[in-house]
Amino acid sequence: MSGKIVKVSGPLVVATGLSDANMADVVRVGNQRLIGEILTMTGDSAAIQVYEETSGLGPGAEVETTGYPLSVELGPGLIETIYDGIQRPLEKIMELSGATITRGVEVPPLDRTKKWAFQPVMTPGTKVSAGDVIGTVQETAVVLHKVMIPPRMSGVIESVSPAGEYTIEQTVAVLKTDKGETVELDMIQRWPVRIGRPYKHKYTPKTPLQSGQRVIDTLFPVAKGGTAAVPGPFGSGKTVVQHQLAKWSDVDIVVYIGCGERGNEMTDVLREFPELVDPRTGESLMKRTVLIANTSDMPVAAREASIYTGITIAEYFRDMGYDVAVIADSTSRWAEALREMSGRLEEMPGEEGYPAYLSSRLAQFYERAGVVECMTSEGERRGSLTAIGAVSPPGGDLSEPVSQATMRIVKVFWALDAGLAYRRHFPSINWLRSYSLYLDALKPWFDENLGPDFLQQRERAMAILQEEAGLNEIVQLVGKDSLSPADQLTLETAKIIREDFLQQNAFSDIDSFTSHDRQRRLLGLILGYDKLCRSAIEKGASVMDLFEIPARDRLGRAKGVDVSEYLAAYDSIYADMTKQIEELAAKGGLDV
Ligand SMILES: Nc1ncnc2c1ncn2[C@@H]1O[C@H](COP(=O)(O)OP(=O)(O)O)[C@@H](O)[C@H]1O
Ligand SMILES: [Mg+2]
Repeated sequence: MSGKIVKVSGPLVVATGLSDANMADVVRVGNQRLIGEILTMTGDSAAIQVYEETSGLGPGAEVETTGYPLSVELGPGLIETIYDGIQRPLEKIMELSGATITRGVEVPPLDRTKKWAFQPVMTPGTKVSAGDVIGTVQETAVVLHKVMIPPRMSGVIESVSPAGEYTIEQTVAVLKTDKGETVELDMIQRWPVRIGRPYKHKYTPKTPLQSGQRVIDTLFPVAKGGTAAVPGPFGSGKTVVQHQLAKWSDVDIVVYIGCGERGNEMTDVLREFPELVDPRTGESLMKRTVLIANTSDMPVAAREASIYTGITIAEYFRDMGYDVAVIADSTSRWAEALREMSGRLEEMPGEEGYPAYLSSRLAQFYERAGVVECMTSEGERRGSLTAIGAVSPPGGDLSEPVSQATMRIVKVFWALDAGLAYRRHFPSINWLRSYSLYLDALKPWFDENLGPDFLQQRERAMAILQEEAGLNEIVQLVGKDSLSPADQLTLETAKIIREDFLQQNAFSDIDSFTSHDRQRRLLGLILGYDKLCRSAIEKGASVMDLFEIPARDRLGRAKGVDVSEYLAAYDSIYADMTKQIEELAAKGGLDV
């Protein structure tokens, strides 16, 4: 039975005669069988958001429900693929229809013809439940795909196919369920995007995600399994920060969602990522990346779905026991899509026209992050999902609804600053307005793996930066000369921290990524300079002389030293500066 369209309003279509349909069903609309999703049902009348361009559609056209909620296909072939917001493989579609996507075109998300080398690991006769691994497929050089018993299934394995080449639709195992049914399992799972995939338990995140970005890892770290937001006005560097996170984070899988931003930013990703080598695996970064692209030139409704599509794919890899990061640029464009649909539905608008459920929808995205004990009967398996979203408030004003709602949910806030970006201080993460609520939870990890001085140095650096802000106010009133030598040193050290530690050039080979160890040593060097100078000042050394020692110059260039040489170079800088500062202290004029 099919319904009939009574009204079309942009991406929103109202149809009647759909008594057999349910809310959240996927429907096919019109002759072109455009893909849509039912948002609300009143009697047999449905409000449908259509994921494709609706021009030409009019009253009377047929609507048919598929009876299924909006779902993704999960299995080998996800990695390295570029999808749109409803998981259509963009390259395949463009091959079929050219650059402007033909509407209603149907291409399955996962390749049906490609053969994968399946390696069985399960033995027949095993009692199994959801999440247990049937076998594996080397999906890319760095991702071992685990073919698992789908959620909510359990029983006894009757047979497992032998090692060999299989398409994802071929049977890899036969399961006798607890109800006595025989089910042939292939390599495809389906899961509704708006519902989180099940897990056994959620833990407090305790391990840092290492991003190689100094201001993030040292000052405002995010935990694996944590949540973070990157708010900032246009041009402040949100996309570059997110690209850096996608490139360098020490996770197994990255799902990158380009959501409502300019198309050329996705092109940048597509051009750059294959050429970039993951420093940890030596392989191309695409070998661990799934891309979802719903750029500003694509239909607005699919943008709303894209973040759920992305996070569901991420959960699937989390369920295999991997560390996964989902990066969404930008959640503001997503919220605008939500607002547009809400407006067309004539719902009661909340603040600035956003629907009242904006906050809860955002929370539904971020709360799918976490460190989890995965579903499986095979013993302990942990996976993590880290969620990071850009927020682009108009004019950079963080009091607007999307920023406010996000701030209430996420635990790390990297506030980008137009002023810093204007002065070419990148990443323009404002050290006074940003925060990480993971410091306490991560302390044991830092202490054990990097030594207690890592966090102590962080505290010291933050204190110096905060003092700088206070001193700057005094300087504006009475000038720099009125400051004590110790305060002048504080300003100098703060400047070194800002320019030679926090500033990091994403486009320089050496500077783009800094390991934890190197971050610790570099900051140690800067704070070492501060400490030595402070004691020299007490002995009467001149501040001006201290600021002009030759080692000060080398310190400024320390972040650019080649990776293979930094250990030796930092030791030598430290030795030089100790010598030079002690000489100044010795002739300082005061008795020691
Ligand atoms: N870490 C960085 N290193 C060097 N340049 C940067 C960095 N971050 C941002 N930029 C500069 O700022 C520009 C705008 O950044 P972008 O991420 O596109 O801003 P947004 O996404 O906030 O609009 C970039 O094209 C680049 O020139
Ligand atoms: Mg951007």
